[in-house]
Amino acid sequence: MSWHATILTLFPAMFPGPLGASLAGRALEDGLWRLDTHDLRAHGLGRHRTVDDTPFGGGAGMVMRPDVVAGALAAVRAPDDARPLIYLTPRGKLLTQADAARWSVGPGLVLLCGRYEGLDQRVIEASGAEEISVGDYVLSGGEPAALVLLDACLRLLPGVMGGAESATEESFADGLLEYPHYTRPAEWQGRAVPPVLLSGDHAAIRAWRRAEAEDATRQRRPDLWAAHLAARMAGRRPPVDSAASVATASAGP
Ligand code: ADE
Repeated sequence: MSWHATILTLFPAMFPGPLGASLAGRALEDGLWRLDTHDLRAHGLGRHRTVDDTPFGGGAGMVMRPDVVAGALAAVRAPDDARPLIYLTPRGKLLTQADAARWSVGPGLVLLCGRYEGLDQRVIEASGAEEISVGDYVLSGGEPAALVLLDACLRLLPGVMGGAESATEESFADGLLEYPHYTRPAEWQGRAVPPVLLSGDHAAIRAWRRAEAEDATRQRRPDLWAAHLAARMAGRRPPVDSAASVATASAGP
């Protein structure tokens, strides 16, 4: 049985979206993973298939009703479904590379996408959904966040990318940003490639890349740098579940 993603959304047309192209799209065609989308509207109430209502306590926007969402969940999740249920929300815990790695070795995911002001909190609690955010900014809904989360998991599935990329990922599992990359021409618009990269001295190249990775991390991501230093002092790798591990993914198309 292939890795199985189920999406609950008011906008099923957003899927597979970008995941229908490139590596994920090929893998979908090849049956390495499976996607089904369910329209939350189908579980709406009355003639108008209402899914939301005004918030108790007042305020702007609309809130998705717990009974509607619970009905949809019951329809798509069999009692023995072992897949984690994730609700995409800016209130959630930040997504990390460690999350993607953990989920990618499981049976798949059920992703719940909210619109409006979000979901009634009671159905989040009652369903045992894990609340996940893809970053400290507000999207118009959970759908683009679900695409990001899925992409991060899918590229880790066996056979989706080449073995070389997975190996690269392993070797950078130390919480640093990647070093910069260069290819031909060796000089372009008056800019030369760092000479060490043309030296053929592999130890020197390794040292240069390491220094560049450390400089970039120190300057751009003091949070990751602090975690990296703490891990180094303790003679261990950074905490697997820290944001640091997000920065370790070096491979990409
Ligand atoms: N929905 C709206 N914004 C989001 C975010 N940053 N992460 C996850 N889901 C969201």
